[in-house]
Amino acid sequence: MSNLDFIYKRHSVRKFKNDAVPMEDIKEIIKAATYAPSGKNKQNWHFVVIKSKEKIEGMANIIEKKNSELASYTQDKDMAQAFTKYVKYHTVFRNAPIVILLYAGPYPATGLDLLKAKGASNDEIHDLLKASPGIQNIGAAMENLLLASANMGYGCCWMTGPNYARKELEEYIGFQKEGYFLAAITPLGVPEESELKSPPRKSVDEVMTIIE
Ligand SMILES: Cc1cc2nc3c(=O)[nH]c(=O)nc-3n(C[C@H](O)[C@H](O)[C@H](O)COP(=O)(O)O)c2cc1C
Repeated sequence: MSNLDFIYKRHSVRKFKNDAVPMEDIKEIIKAATYAPSGKNKQNWHFVVIKSKEKIEGMANIIEKKNSELASYTQDKDMAQAFTKYVKYHTVFRNAPIVILLYAGPYPATGLDLLKAKGASNDEIHDLLKASPGIQNIGAAMENLLLASANMGYGCCWMTGPNYARKELEEYIGFQKEGYFLAAITPLGVPEESELKSPPRKSVDEVMTIIE
């Protein structure tokens, strides 16, 4: 048994049992998420916990509707089909007892004000923001949430696929906090399958470069 078992036992879970998740477990999982590091300790995250089956189904319906609306904007049948066939992966939270929405709040990228003061081009500004520290904070929190859940016997699935329906989902959920927007979603519940699997990984040699 390696000390890293808690890493390797996390898998994306897309099917759930009906079992309820006690509120104290949800709170413990979210507490673990908040122990993620964040730039300047800004903790620019907010977790919205959806317990209503009806709301969860409503979210899935909104995504399906937006998916077919977007697909209707092209005459290219292959492009439309390539998009619509993945809608099931954008609604995998549908049968979960709990859905957690992770909202991202403002996080000013270091140096942005000065770039703007210099009259930097959009390209220069985009180049600074493409490694957005604000979103990296959210990613760290989400990973903690996933690892904590798996360690407590629950399953999750980090989801950004539904983000094309962000505005509609935000309006439907009705959560508002100045400068915050919906960044990612995860279902939370007891996995239906007992043997969980993940797709294969690239080898360490492929993804690592050593500079001596
Ligand atoms: C940023 C991000 C977005 C993802 N979005 C989705 C999604 O919308 N739907 C989905 O079914 N899985 C989604 N996933 C899960 C990935 O497909 C999954 O992590 C990957 O295939 C590796 O499998 P594993 O999580 O079991 O190790 C997402 C994962 C990440 C990190």
